[in-house]
Amino acid sequence: MVGQLGHPRPVSVRPELLTEADAGELLTLQRAAYLSEARAHDNFELPPLVEPLESVRAALTDPVLPVWGIRAGSRLIATVRVRVNGDVGEIGRLAVAPDRQGAGLGTALLLAAEELAPPVVTRFRLFTGERSAEPLRLYAKLGYRETHRSPEADYELIHLEKPRERAPAAIR
Ligand SMILES: CC(C)(COP(=O)(O)OP(=O)(O)OC[C@H]1O[C@@H](n2cnc3c(N)ncnc32)[C@H](O)[C@@H]1OP(=O)(O)O)[C@@H](O)C(=O)NCCC(=O)NCCS
Repeated sequence: MVGQLGHPRPVSVRPELLTEADAGELLTLQRAAYLSEARAHDNFELPPLVEPLESVRAALTDPVLPVWGIRAGSRLIATVRVRVNGDVGEIGRLAVAPDRQGAGLGTALLLAAEELAPPVVTRFRLFTGERSAEPLRLYAKLGYRETHRSPEADYELIHLEKPRERAPAAIR
């Protein structure tokens, strides 16, 4: 669906909407992916790591919280959530399976999720830990800018925002 600009290995992704039936797989994926974040911040209580299965199930049935996934064959290898809150699309839980990271999937999925957000969304917000060097680089590259920081354990969360880029009107 998306071939992102500037990536040496542009990838196409076709995200699918995940359903309650995907809860177990989704929980496994986010726990595996966020382990590196937990190590970086010396915090193994990160919400994606401690989220109970019931909460994952609830997210998957929440009508204002589409949860997108990418599969390789039948295997779930990447995911992202976008909560629609007024005109803001709150991006969360961007995660790529550890063995598939660094191949452009995270970039492509984030761009696809932005495209798929309903028209009411005019800006996107997300946050990450201050020691998340790679995600921060990815977000900066895609146009996210820091708005503020908030304290979390012995580090800070960095909150970022970007305006929605509308496709230019067709030239006649
Ligand atoms: C962050 C994450 C979603 C990025 O997905 P990805 O598919 O690995 O990222 P991409 O391949 O699209 O790379 C995006 C950029 O970030 C860098 N990058 C980010 N994570 C990387 C990783 N684990 N390995 C290598 N490069 C990575 C790449 O250098 C790349 O930059 P480039 O386009 O200039 O080459 C993924 O690494 C992940 O799931 N990490 C653990 C969970 C996490 O940190 N989530 C976000 C925190 S809010």
